[in-house]
Amino acid sequence: MRALDRVSFSVAEGEVLGIVGESGCGKSTLGKTIAGIRDPTGGSISFNGEQIASPGQQRPKGVRARLQYVYQDPGASLDPRWTLRRSLHEPLVIHTNWSREQRAAKVDEIATAMGLPAALLDRYPHEISGGQQRRVGLARILVLAPQIVILDEPTSGLDVSLQATVLALLRDLRRGFNLTYLLISHDIAVVSSMCDQVAVMYLGRIVEIGPTNQVLARPRHPYTRSLLAASPRIGGPRFTDSLLQPDEVAEPTEIESGCRFRSRCPISIAACATIDPQLVVEDGHGAACLRWSDQPA
Ligand SMILES: Nc1ncnc2c1ncn2[C@@H]1O[C@H](COP(=O)(O)OP(=O)(O)OP(=O)(O)O)[C@@H](O)[C@H]1O
Ligand SMILES: [Mg+2]
Repeated sequence: MRALDRVSFSVAEGEVLGIVGESGCGKSTLGKTIAGIRDPTGGSISFNGEQIASPGQQRPKGVRARLQYVYQDPGASLDPRWTLRRSLHEPLVIHTNWSREQRAAKVDEIATAMGLPAALLDRYPHEISGGQQRRVGLARILVLAPQIVILDEPTSGLDVSLQATVLALLRDLRRGFNLTYLLISHDIAVVSSMCDQVAVMYLGRIVEIGPTNQVLARPRHPYTRSLLAASPRIGGPRFTDSLLQPDEVAEPTEIESGCRFRSRCPISIAACATIDPQLVVEDGHGAACLRWSDQPA
């Protein structure tokens, strides 16, 4: 099965790129491949102008720590038998040859920046709240001074007020540590408030990409429209052609030919069954839909 196909984009330094799409469309796979947790079987990834990943390529050692992935479930990334302090030391033990004192100084600095009191660090993961676990999860990667942070559903499972706190924290950290984010979320409201650019994925492909305000205000792909229609919290134009039925999530193995979205598309035409639409970019805003672009129908 091909979980990602023809996915191509770039992110500028300091920018926040949102990645949205339904469950199983490949968002986590994309994030993990960029972070080096999974190896690509095709294509390549470049970082600061240098190719760092392609099939069979060993990732240069120096760049590993600079791209970090924050797991969907922060509690699961912390070892239950370790104190939080030990969990914060561990990445430095792996990625640096610093002395214990050097590590302790870094851990203290980041814990303070994250609003984690020193006494809290002697506790175990089950002895702190979900919001605190998320802070520790973020602190764990910030000790490594990353450049790019891939946040996989950073607010899922949090109540609304805690969501707002986490988003504010992410904004502060971005400024304070000069970070570039890839923010994976199914929450259009989160994407709209945090992201400069947004990529909409469907079955392993990017079907629409562009500046967030443009994509949300003037979506070009019918799938993006249906996502927006399904999101009750976003203002702006209303779309009535909602077509998302939660029980019919498509599988990437089912694709034969033509447009992957056509079976669920309210505006498909005969040509959609044979032509696989390419991403056509106009004014920095791209969409892969025959009905939108001027491709031969
Ligand atoms: N280790 C694996 N082995 C085989 N298939 C996998 C593996 N991990 C993911 N997949 C499949 O790859 C596709 C993409 O999965 P991925 O986890 O990237 O989705 P996602 O967009 O992050 O979904 P969610 O929103 O539910 O987290 C899915 O069809 C999934 O079933
Ligand atoms: Mg995922």
